[in-house]
This record gives sequence, structure tokens and C-alpha cells, in this order.
Amino acid sequence: MSGATFHFTTAEPTDINELDRLERQLFHTDRCSRRSFRYLIRRGAVLLARRQGEKTIAGYAILLSRRNSRKMRVYSLAVLPAERQAGLGSMLVAEIEAIARRAGSTSLTLEVADSNLAALALYRKCGFHQHGFRYGYYQDGGHALLLHKNLTTETGHDHPLYTGRPHQ
Ligand SMILES: CC(C)(COP(=O)(O)OP(=O)(O)OC[C@H]1O[C@@H](n2cnc3c(N)ncnc32)[C@H](O)[C@@H]1OP(=O)(O)O)[C@@H](O)C(=O)NCCC(=O)NCCS
Repeated sequence: MSGATFHFTTAEPTDINELDRLERQLFHTDRCSRRSFRYLIRRGAVLLARRQGEKTIAGYAILLSRRNSRKMRVYSLAVLPAERQAGLGSMLVAEIEAIARRAGSTSLTLEVADSNLAALALYRKCGFHQHGFRYGYYQDGGHALLLHKNLTTETGHDHPLYTGRPHQ
């Protein structure tokens, strides 16, 4: 795994079947529907990571912006089990952070289940701080922590394998 390079692209409508399959595999609640994926892809909000030279998706993230707002929201982020704990989650966060900074965004927010220790550790390592709590936020009754990263005061983080190239 070490030395692996990933490239980042925005998803195309032809990626919907694979994204839909991955979403059902990777999330047990509050999944993104095919219809939502179609809409989000049209908005250019879905970022994909693939290993160099490979067609299958290794990880993805959804980054939402709101009109007249300089805040952006990380709506979803996931890495295939076979690709985990090798830095791809951190690279996806670095990539969406770079996209948000280029768009002039001042902060990133997200919700994460309070039981999701891997994701919490990832986001904390990437400089996110808790700024709220939502009791029973998820469809399965789980609670969410609201996390925030101020892009005007916090520096970007890098992963040794992340090239920092603009995504294509
Ligand atoms: C959360 C997730 C994206 C992490 O992806 P990843 O590629 O494994 O992340 P990285 O390898 O970049 O790990 C970065 C840090 O996260 C933490 N981390 C990752 N997996 C962890 C685990 N299983 N247990 C504890 N900490 C973990 C570590 O602090 C790690 O830093 P380290 O390698 O220096 O120890 C991945 O586990 C995933 O897709 N989970 C299912 C979907 C999900 O929960 N998404 C988040 C929704 S908000």
C-alpha cells in the first residue's frame, strides 16, 4: 500500500451505479439515494478517488456549498474497506479542503455519528473541532457530533502521499 498514488476527479453520471452500490455497502443508515447522487453529480459535488490506472472507485466525498454562503459542508466521505488506514481518508479531506479554499470558503462543517470512532479520529487529526451535538440525528436514532474547521485560521494539513494537485 505504501507509495500508492490516487487521483481525484469529479464524478460523472456514469459513476452512479458504482456509487449507489458503495453507499449501500459502506453505510447502514442515512444513505444517499440514487436520485440524490444524480443531483449532486450534476452540481459537481461528488469527488472520487481512484488508484492511478484503475477504474474502480477507492473512496469518495460529497462537498456541498450554499448560495450566498462561504461555508461548505462535507455531506459524506468514505473509503473502501480494502483501502482503509493507509491515508486515503486524510487525502480526501485534504482534497476537499483545497477545493473549499480555492472557492473562497471560510469554513467546513460536517456531522459524524458519535459512535464512529474512526471518522472522529480522522477529522480531529485533520483539524476539525466539535461545535455542537444533535441528539437522535440519524434515521437509526444515533446521535451526531457537529464538527467545524475554520479555514481562515487553521492551516491546511497534508498527507505524505497527497500531491495537492487540483482535481480534474
Ligand atoms: C472514516 C474513514 C473515511 C477513514 O478512512 P481511512 O482511509 O482509513 O483514513 P486514514 O487512513 O487517512 O486515517 C487517518 C486517521 O484516522 C484515524 N483512523 C482511521 N481509521 C481508524 C480506525 N479504524 N480506528 C481508529 N482511528 C482510525 C487515525 O487517527 C488515522 O491516523 P493515523 O493513520 O495517523 O493513525 C473510513 O474508515 C470509512 O470509510 N469509514 C466508513 C464510512 C464513514 O464512516 N465515513 C465517515 C462518515 S462522517
